[in-house]
Amino acid sequence: MTLEQLKNTIAAIEDYPKPGITFRDITPLLQNAEAFSACIDFFVERYIQQGITQVAAVEARGFIFGAAIAKALGCGLTLLRKPGKLPGNVITQRYQLEYGEDQLQMRSDSLKASDNVLIVDDLLATGGTVEAAAKLIKQTQARIHEAAFLVTLDGLPGEQKLQQQGLACYTLCR
Ligand code: PRP
Ligand code: HPA
Repeated sequence: MTLEQLKNTIAAIEDYPKPGITFRDITPLLQNAEAFSACIDFFVERYIQQGITQVAAVEARGFIFGAAIAKALGCGLTLLRKPGKLPGNVITQRYQLEYGEDQLQMRSDSLKASDNVLIVDDLLATGGTVEAAAKLIKQTQARIHEAAFLVTLDGLPGEQKLQQQGLACYTLCR
């Protein structure tokens, strides 16, 4: 399967969740065994030789891709979760949503300074979510290799914002 064929499995849903918004829906990609497998293979091809020690995946849709990539790379999976879901000591980072704000949490003992971390999420829009993810990881002194996305929404400033902060971004589809 080519990247163009993979992109064509992602649906565009008009006026969801609000009028005027076109929602990029990854559920048809996930339901298509060939597409999901190809998607993971594209990521693994890029990261297999890069010494990644942990994949840090963002709840919830980031978990789907992050878990499969971590398994294929033979590395661990660090969960970046919405508040109140992780036991033990956690560190917390607030971030802005279009309306209001949310938080991401990570267990404070998740990562070591020697870790080389790949951040994984399904989609990059404003960049607020992965900016918060990167701030959590930086507190541990671990190295961030790159942030990987299935989809980047062009026309939003997310990618540029993250790159200006020194965070390399990679995406399969635009
Ligand atoms: C979506 C998506 C990304 C984030 C991208 O998650 O999965 O994590 O928004 O937006 P941003 O770049 O503007 O921050 P959502 O918070 O909807 O959660 P979900 O994965 O639980 O559906
Ligand atoms: N699709 C899925 N998740 C999203 C989108 C989208 O178009 N925009 C912001 N989060």
